[in-house]
Amino acid sequence: MIYLDNAATTPLDEKVFEAMLPYFKQEFGNPSSVHESGRNARAAIDKARQIIASTLNAGPKEIVFTSGATESVNAIHKGVVLASTHQVKHIITSAIEHHCVLDCIEWLGRQGVAVTYVMPDHEGLINPEEVKKAIRPGETILISIMSANNEVGTIEPFAEIGRIAKENNILFHTDAVQGYGKIPIDVQRDHIDFLSVSAHKIYGPKGAGFFYQRQGVQLVPLVHGGGQESDLRGGTENVAGIVGLAEAARLIFERSTERKRLRDLTDLLWKLLKENNPEVVLNGPVASEKRVPGLLNVTFPGISGEMLVQSLDGRGFAVSSGAACAAGSAPPSHVLMAMGRSTVEGKQGLRISLGHSNTEEEIRELVNVLRDAVKKMKTSVSFSDD
Ligand SMILES: Cc1ncc(COP(=O)(O)O)c(C=O)c1O
Repeated sequence: MIYLDNAATTPLDEKVFEAMLPYFKQEFGNPSSVHESGRNARAAIDKARQIIASTLNAGPKEIVFTSGATESVNAIHKGVVLASTHQVKHIITSAIEHHCVLDCIEWLGRQGVAVTYVMPDHEGLINPEEVKKAIRPGETILISIMSANNEVGTIEPFAEIGRIAKENNILFHTDAVQGYGKIPIDVQRDHIDFLSVSAHKIYGPKGAGFFYQRQGVQLVPLVHGGGQESDLRGGTENVAGIVGLAEAARLIFERSTERKRLRDLTDLLWKLLKENNPEVVLNGPVASEKRVPGLLNVTFPGISGEMLVQSLDGRGFAVSSGAACAAGSAPPSHVLMAMGRSTVEGKQGLRISLGHSNTEEEIRELVNVLRDAVKKMKTSVSFSDD
């Protein structure tokens, strides 16, 4: 199989696996234990915290380990609301956030929190001025805008939005799952108060992640018990997962040339797709530097994205029709619809996301297979139209 669904998840890096192994066997101690085995586990967590903090220009005390981005997002949004003393609590977010943000905020909305959803432009870009206009003085407690979109790859102006939040004394969270390690993020320079990340999107293990919380910013914990993670997330730490997360982070920042390779490969993919299918439409910014490296979302007009995914699966290629979802049940993409596409067009996106293992040869092969699959589907669509 040729794997081209790296925005959904990435394979575990061999070096990450090796770094994790000792913490399943000889170094199995509980980090809260005082004996040597416990101290070794604690030292591994401390080192991991240091590594993660250094990638964001943060302090180690500002990093909280969790099971991934979904948990981080819930801890931040619900924790901020619980900690707020404002009488009316208002959150600003965008209509193209990942469902872990949208569903969490929707739930908060049912508990009485007011919410404003900022719409993107046709390329999936959020205008910071729209965010500014949505601010309700004395009521807005949190702005939550992703650093890069997971379906179309648009890099959002999060630093500009962070500045606006700071100027207005409002907390700013960015879901950095798709941006971390791919685009420059500096929590000081970019005025970020909270940021969430999952390890499995950067060749780390599933079930591990972290959030950044600016020192001094108040958050009420969701998970009580044990006092771990400075009382913000109780429960014995996932030591192997945390070690794997830190090693994955270290590697992704070390392999800086990989970003350019992925961008060049994505540019080549788009060029070849257009040459072979003149009607193909790009979903997201046309300028590739405005997208995260490796992610391309396209539409073959009239052809369902999900059907293409299934057809490509049968030919040995793993791609997706948008965010990961159960086969056969794909609703229209809320991201494409927010970008102005119709309900029908919302079901026609095809997301191809490249990773470390992908080669130019694989891209050329994909283009050929896609051309044939699209041709076949067009024929069957026109037959069924008759
Ligand atoms: C932008 C974005 N945010 C959040 C998540 C949720 O990550 P996890 O399922 O690892 O918690 C994802 C995963 O698809 C994502 O792409």
